Amino acid sequence: MPGLFITFEGGDGSGKSTQSALLVEWLQALGHGVVVSREPGGTDVGLELRQLVLHWRGEIAPRAEALIYAADRAHNIATKVRPALERGEIVVQDRYLDSSVAYQGAGRVLGAQEVRDLSLWATDGLLPDLTVLLDLREGSDRLADRTLYDRLEAAGDDFHARVSEAYLELAAAEPERFLVLDARDTIENIASAIRSRVETLLRPAP
Ligand code: TYD
Repeated sequence: MPGLFITFEGGDGSGKSTQSALLVEWLQALGHGVVVSREPGGTDVGLELRQLVLHWRGEIAPRAEALIYAADRAHNIATKVRPALERGEIVVQDRYLDSSVAYQGAGRVLGAQEVRDLSLWATDGLLPDLTVLLDLREGSDRLADRTLYDRLEAAGDDFHARVSEAYLELAAAEPERFLVLDARDTIENIASAIRSRVETLLRPAP
């Protein structure tokens, strides 16, 4: 497809929205057509599903939850993202299938591969050209640092620790798709690293 699909991933509070807004501003200033989306909730149907999955009072069975995220994703990709990519535009999106693998996988009920396969079925196999991961770990080599990981687990922060760890495993498995940046760096340093990487993927604006 002629367009470019860029996604942002990271834990809650990693600065995704700030960085995606800065990137969008920069791309528009260069004259590119940009479509902004997010998951869950990038479309009208998606807003209903977002309300359901994030604000339902009570339990949602893990498979049902995974399917709601996948349904939101299917509709977002089919009706908004693919058409924009076919028009040659740049889609900048907060969260995509890596969120499902990291978050739904971190619940320990569903396996990473089945969650990923579900998303790939939902989207007919669409993967981003670039995924920016804003990494919130305490220290850049925490994956290797079992002591810190165990401490986070003991502190009851285990779900978020598993999400961060899952993200890093995804990035390590697809290094060409991921740009991993330290979320605690300055806003300007992060924005500039993102622009440098995106620049290598851009075609001249029409
Ligand atoms: P987000 O919109 O980034 O956060 P907020 O609007 O609350 O600042 O994401 C909403 C939550 O949805 C976030 O906790 C991660 C979760 N999520 C999943 O668990 N699986 C998914 O596939 C997606 C897209 C999000």
